[in-house]
Amino acid sequence: MKILFTRKIPSRMLDLIPGDYKVAMWSEENSTMPREELLKEAADADAIFTNLTDKLDAEFFGHAEKLKVVSTMAVGFDNIDLHEATKRGIPVGHTPDVLSEAVAELGLALMFACARRIVESMQFIKENKWESWGPFLFAGQKISGAKLGIIGMGRIGKILAKQAKALNMEVVYYNRRPNTETEKELNIEYRGLEALLQESDYVVMLAPGSQETYHMMGYEQFSLMKPTSIFVNVSRGSNVSEEGLYKALSEKKIFAAGLDVFEVEPIQKDHPLLTLSNVIAAPHIGSATQETREKMVEIALNNILKGLNGERLLHTVNEEVYK
Ligand code: GLV
Repeated sequence: MKILFTRKIPSRMLDLIPGDYKVAMWSEENSTMPREELLKEAADADAIFTNLTDKLDAEFFGHAEKLKVVSTMAVGFDNIDLHEATKRGIPVGHTPDVLSEAVAELGLALMFACARRIVESMQFIKENKWESWGPFLFAGQKISGAKLGIIGMGRIGKILAKQAKALNMEVVYYNRRPNTETEKELNIEYRGLEALLQESDYVVMLAPGSQETYHMMGYEQFSLMKPTSIFVNVSRGSNVSEEGLYKALSEKKIFAAGLDVFEVEPIQKDHPLLTLSNVIAAPHIGSATQETREKMVEIALNNILKGLNGERLLHTVNEEVYK
């Protein structure tokens, strides 16, 4: 059996792999396997350990004739053509749950950093501009008592709602389908998207990336938000029109934005959004705590071993493959 890893994973984490399996692994720490190499290596691979930066499209599946299982080290799977995988009887595994707290925490971190202008403040000190305490120096926004609007009430949304409640925030949410059980359990309320945008002080985007959610936040939507409000995206860049967000931020339609994900990653260093002092950007690190990432590797590896053994994966995205 050959397992193809498109990223370098520390060898100490690979003990689970039986000795007679062949491992092919991209050897560079912070880059992904080039497309040509991916297609070449996929040709005789039985399993692939992938991630959100690989595009597993029809062309890929066409090359990977021996493939028995796809395992992504991520909760999101918008980079994988599920239809192609399912058509070929290939289960696709992912790593939900273990990363929910870490992603929710990054959402909170970006909320706090934007609200209290932490990055701007540090820049100000580094530029040697701090001369004295000021009555309104870097005055920002408060979090306790404010209203949080969560777009996408899945596993991560529920945890963020609980964390926000502990900060004495009021929480409303928008989701494709309202969930009355979750509302009761978390003491939160459903809102239509427009109402949520109009009344929230913080809006956190957690909807998964899909055709349905493509650019669901654009200039028109940002213009509905309060001038004091903060927008945070820790889901997928494709959910937001960056052109619309740039315009809204420049026109002070909203106070600030905290972004962990972008329409094109890595974001270009001369991207207009990065010229704004009220934007905080992170390089897609939502689940990046050491503990969480190690657990994600473990689950992704287990998904592969189960798939190669013909067993059900721990977490399968395309359940219909078993029907
Ligand atoms: C990260 O974005 C993930 O989907 O896990």
